[in-house]
Amino acid sequence: ESGQDFKGKKVGLTIGPTQEAIDPVRFISNHSSGKMGYALAEAFLERGAEVWVVSGPISIPVAKENFHWVDVHSAQEMYLAANDIHSKMDVMVFAAAVADYAPAEVAPEKIKKQGNSLEIHLKKNVDIAQELGKQKKPNQIHVGFALETENEKEHAVDKLNRKNFDLIVLNSMKEKGAGFRLDTNRVSIFSKSGEVVESDVAPKKEIAGMILDQIKKESSWTLV
Ligand code: PMT
Repeated sequence: ESGQDFKGKKVGLTIGPTQEAIDPVRFISNHSSGKMGYALAEAFLERGAEVWVVSGPISIPVAKENFHWVDVHSAQEMYLAANDIHSKMDVMVFAAAVADYAPAEVAPEKIKKQGNSLEIHLKKNVDIAQELGKQKKPNQIHVGFALETENEKEHAVDKLNRKNFDLIVLNSMKEKGAGFRLDTNRVSIFSKSGEVVESDVAPKKEIAGMILDQIKKESSWTLV
């Protein structure tokens, strides 16, 4: 049993999707439910950590009162909230599925139906993990996720390096029982040193426990 092995540690997480407004009634988003991120938040809490959650719009049941909880919509809002807490965290986990692009302009009124096609111009969003990765201190641990559909390992390792993660958790859209919305996941965890841990298909809470074990191994803390 792992007990209270994260006692005294401050942990921040980004979880869920982001929503990027097109007009007052429409947005661009993705299928993230927040289940993986919330399972991690609960696991950290149960193992003694003080936990900050920056959450995109999710509809799963959550016990916000157990956390320092901030609700956000857009990638930009998520970035500002994560940036606010980052410097005091021991561990930062980027489990959110952040939209890479957002409408360049938000229409002030509902866009009217017009013609047979409609173009929406998108601009690149801030990469939250990459920006905070630049500010990472030697005693901080950053954990990222990679959701891939092809060349999974190569892309995951590339993100590990580019975003200055200590660990990256790869979940593949190709695997049955893994990824968005489900209560289960199947992951491979890569560390800077190249080590790989592979899970079976298991409940997200159990996967979260595995990830915490790897974080502990990666850290130089003396933990009980
Ligand atoms: O929420 P669930 O339904 O339970 O599904 C879980 C999940 C599939 C969403 C989760 O396990 C997961 O993989 N989250 C990350 C999905 C993702 O956006 O992956 P990515 O490969 O596009 O991004 C790589 C990393 O950079 C991620 O840690 C992401 O949070 C971060 N990122 C990406 C873009 C951006 N603008 N800012 C970021 O911080």
